[in-house]
Amino acid sequence: MSEKVYIFDTTLRDAEQVPGCQLNTIEKIEVARQLEKLGVDIIEAGFPISSPGDFNSVVEISKAVTNPTICALTRAVKKDIDVAAQALEFAKRGRIHTGIGTSPYHIYEKLRMTPETVIEQAVEAVKYARRFVDDVEFYAEDAGRSDEEYLARVIEAVIAAGATVVNIPDTTGYCLPNEYGAKIAYLKNNVPNIDKAIISTHCHNDLGMATANTLAAVQNGARQVEVTINGLGERAGNTALEEVVMAIKCHSNLDFDLGIDTKQIISTSKLVSNLMRMPVQANKAIVGRNAFAHSSGIHQDGVLKSRETYEIIAPEDVGVDQSSIVLTARSGRAALKHHLNEIGYTPEGEALDEIYQRFLELADKKKMITTRDLEVLVGTTHHCRMSIQLVGLQVVCGKSALPTATVQISFDGDIFTETACGNGPVDAAITAVKNITKRRVHIEEFLIQAITRGSDDLGKVHMQISHKGKMYHGFGANTDIVTASVESFIDAISKIA
Ligand code: KIV
Ligand code: ZN
Repeated sequence: MSEKVYIFDTTLRDAEQVPGCQLNTIEKIEVARQLEKLGVDIIEAGFPISSPGDFNSVVEISKAVTNPTICALTRAVKKDIDVAAQALEFAKRGRIHTGIGTSPYHIYEKLRMTPETVIEQAVEAVKYARRFVDDVEFYAEDAGRSDEEYLARVIEAVIAAGATVVNIPDTTGYCLPNEYGAKIAYLKNNVPNIDKAIISTHCHNDLGMATANTLAAVQNGARQVEVTINGLGERAGNTALEEVVMAIKCHSNLDFDLGIDTKQIISTSKLVSNLMRMPVQANKAIVGRNAFAHSSGIHQDGVLKSRETYEIIAPEDVGVDQSSIVLTARSGRAALKHHLNEIGYTPEGEALDEIYQRFLELADKKKMITTRDLEVLVGTTHHCRMSIQLVGLQVVCGKSALPTATVQISFDGDIFTETACGNGPVDAAITAVKNITKRRVHIEEFLIQAITRGSDDLGKVHMQISHKGKMYHGFGANTDIVTASVESFIDAISKIA
């Protein structure tokens, strides 16, 4: 029988702490349910001491999902562990993930401690966490740059104190695959009690090596991988779940049981991208929109003769479909709900009403609504609940016209109207919104994508703005690209308050 490699998803913790990627509790539950459907073993649901929102999300996710273990992050301090234990009260299986830095940078510069006192604090924290739960994971922060012999002493001590999983993070994404693999092999061979715990990887992607490092670790004895959907996470991100899973599936010499329903990969990727307002780069492995597109004539000819000539993964194995038409303006609420459930969304009550309303508006304009359109609708429905809303928009543009936009916005219930000019209709409309809201913001990134194809398609706009040194992300989708741009801008500025 194949050996198990546990999939630990930290999208709701490591990725969610990225500026602009914050989700509310309802959105986090939606993602957690989809992760459960995907088949992950552990969901890291948050860092409960960091904010009441994080605490509440861990509580609600613990209630909402059944199969995965729910994990809560802490520093190696008692008050963090107390709060994490409280947040996990409703989890069927709860895990506390506690840890401390073990590299010279962390020990001497960040913590201002000694190597010995770090070990003492680590052991104390693990023992304390074991008072609340049987499953305690210890992370040696910046293990990638930690001395091997010292790291082995830390790991031996925390396992003796009761750690059931030992996480060896490459926090800064510094290691090369052979170095990281060798580090795991060293621990396997030099920590006397290592058989009492599972070794976990947690790789960041600063040098683009997170997936390679994770696989090198698995080949050297790691049996848990910490990953995120779309590789989102601090700075350049974490190891992408979809890459590790499909790399293992594609290589028969990596004979591991992962328990992942790979057909759920694309839906999960889209849900996370839409809710976190983080576009997926077109050429991203597995989930990018070009990942299965063959553009050169030679490749197209080859694939038509035999798929395997240029494809190592069948698109349908990861859930890529040909964007089937599912609904029209005559479809009722029950049909909409049924199709939303099929693609992993489970809105009820008011949330369903809001999506239905937006569905009707879209179906009026677009006639045929596809699965991809529904995914986008779910991602933009929160617009209805925002305190700033676009009420009206009229633009004059075209060759030799002076682009002018008149925008009407409702701001906490009051209606404001403004007209402005710009170098194009989007610029004019956004200038008008800026004049109404009086926010000094800069647009740092502005990305327009069509969802499927055709001139009647929905356009998606991702925008990143900066205000007083902080970044905010916005997302909008509409058949009218100027409206989508303004909605995306409003989505981003609504987060400033
Ligand atoms: O990157 C890291 O070291 C982490 C730990 C908190 C596990 O995210
Ligand atoms: Zn991390």
